[in-house]
Amino acid sequence: MSIEIDGIHKAFESNQVLRGFSVEARDGETLVILGQSGSGKSVTIKHVVGLLEPDQGEVRVDGERVAGRTLEELFALRRNVGYVFQFAALFDSMSVADNVAMGLRRMREVSDEEREERVREALRVVDLVGFEDRSPSELSGGQRKRAGIARAVATRPSYLLYDEPTTGLDPVTRAVVDRLINRMKDELGVTGIVITHDMESAFRVADRMAMLYEGICRLEGTPDDFRNSEDPVIRAFIEGRPELMENSS
Ligand SMILES: Nc1ncnc2c1ncn2[C@@H]1O[C@H](COP(=O)(O)OP(=O)(O)OP(=O)(O)O)[C@@H](O)[C@H]1O
Ligand SMILES: [Mg+2]
Repeated sequence: MSIEIDGIHKAFESNQVLRGFSVEARDGETLVILGQSGSGKSVTIKHVVGLLEPDQGEVRVDGERVAGRTLEELFALRRNVGYVFQFAALFDSMSVADNVAMGLRRMREVSDEEREERVREALRVVDLVGFEDRSPSELSGGQRKRAGIARAVATRPSYLLYDEPTTGLDPVTRAVVDRLINRMKDELGVTGIVITHDMESAFRVADRMAMLYEGICRLEGTPDDFRNSEDPVIRAFIEGRPELMENSS
């Protein structure tokens, strides 16, 4: 069980974003992908659920290539790989419960009764019991993030992709979301990829880390490998000191 990102290249017209990026999320771990704004983190995880296809290289989930699947195969993949979008992407015209139930409605084997039970369970996990009938527009930023996580876990995926789960949240809510990410791993055995530039959060959730820089993996290793790295690019990033990076490549 793993997600393998294997040498992917991706350009949008003349903008070459990924230039052979490789990284692997192993069974039962949380992999954090770090990188500056615009480095291609969101582009990378969109390849994992087949929202984008690479120009070269491939992504494999459980050893099977993601690109080139039929629509039906993609739906099956997306049930198993929950995606917590960078901007929550909830539908304000639907209640919180209906948003969370969305992926389940596509699963013919899940009865109405079981769907309701799973929605209740997912909302309990993210501590949003009592918010079922609200519109997402009536939630705070942190509550919306948690509702996004509930929607992603409702189908009981083996994998969860979190795109900037803590960005824009206060320190307490960030810690709550980080704890939630750790519970998904510890209690549900989820293999996770977390994309972030929030270093505090990264060190709280990561089993391993990878830094995406200029389209490739600059460093992949344990949190200690990152703490101890002398690479100016890594140091600049984790210390928030861009001047360290000048004249290095
Ligand atoms: N669908 C698209 N069409 C054209 N260009 C795109 C598309 N999606 C992303 N890009 C470009 O690819 C680059 C990487 O974008 P991406 O969203 O992956 O950055 P990111 O690392 O997630 O940044 P942030 O931390 O700000 O979210 C950017 O230059 C962006 O403009
Ligand atoms: Mg992004």
